[in-house]
Amino acid sequence: MKTLLKILTECASPTGRELPIRNLIRSMVESLADEVSVDVMGNLIARKGSLQPGGMKIMLSAHIDEIGIAVTHVDDNGFVRFTNVGGVRPYTCYSGRVRFSDGTVGVIGMEPTTSVTEVQPLSKMYIDVGATNPADCPVSVGDFGVFDRPFAELGNGRIVSKAMDDRAGAAVLVRLLEMMPENPHEIYFVFSTQEEVGLRGARTAAYHIDPDLGIALDVTLTGDTPKSATMDVALGKGPAIKVKDSGMISSPALVRYLTEIAVKEEIPYQMEVLTGGTTDAAAIQVSRGGVPSGCISIPCRYVHSPSEVVDLADMENAVRLLVAALGQSILLGDA
Ligand code: CO
Ligand code: ZN
Repeated sequence: MKTLLKILTECASPTGRELPIRNLIRSMVESLADEVSVDVMGNLIARKGSLQPGGMKIMLSAHIDEIGIAVTHVDDNGFVRFTNVGGVRPYTCYSGRVRFSDGTVGVIGMEPTTSVTEVQPLSKMYIDVGATNPADCPVSVGDFGVFDRPFAELGNGRIVSKAMDDRAGAAVLVRLLEMMPENPHEIYFVFSTQEEVGLRGARTAAYHIDPDLGIALDVTLTGDTPKSATMDVALGKGPAIKVKDSGMISSPALVRYLTEIAVKEEIPYQMEVLTGGTTDAAAIQVSRGGVPSGCISIPCRYVHSPSEVVDLADMENAVRLLVAALGQSILLGDA
């Protein structure tokens, strides 16, 4: 899992520019799935199994895009101005590095402030790629970049990297595809695009697939760091079964089902109520006539920074939970 996570998070592929990560994951899942396709939005869809008696059409979704920047202007001295692609916060930017798809690296500077504790808005920041004028600047208006920070192992099985959101979810789906036991379902493993700008890939994929059940795999915030907001999710205490976030309320029947499976299989789990943010499940849930949907979340510290931290055991346990939940007929009962 660690090596897989390293390979996936080190791929530079921001929202709207998912070709590199899609090709990478396609090379991993092609031999494992019964059918692999790419749709107009760039979603990679791997189907495993076909509908059997007692089975369901299930859509699993993990987004493969990552937050980044897009070039808006190169000034007379070769400094690059940029805008955010997805939820980028100024305080995670200053003095950080950006990598463009052609390999160009730049450092983020900002115009002077009146106080050392003040951070400028993105409109007063710039990227210094070593250029001296627009002609010798290797990037131009419309180019996309990602934040560049090395992958590293911390203590206690904790890993730090950029783009854990949501390559951690993608890694769980790749592992699940490898381990999926015999089952009656037709399962669509969707590696979705443009989640960070509004769940756009999952929305069209859900409409196209028309599933009976939807489960997103994504990261969630934690409440386990100094003076953090009160939130009952901690690193290392298991995957979180989402009850609610600011974009959706999970199907109560699905929450109950997943919880019962976790208890029965003795898989550690946590209940998640997230007050800000949402996942692909919000788009799946309201597709067509509605789809019972929920989300299994990987607890993650410092989400939407270039140094997102997850616990490997939480990811392994998310795979176990999915194997147990999908490896049999699913009776959801009343909502
Ligand atoms: Co995100
Ligand atoms: Zn995400």
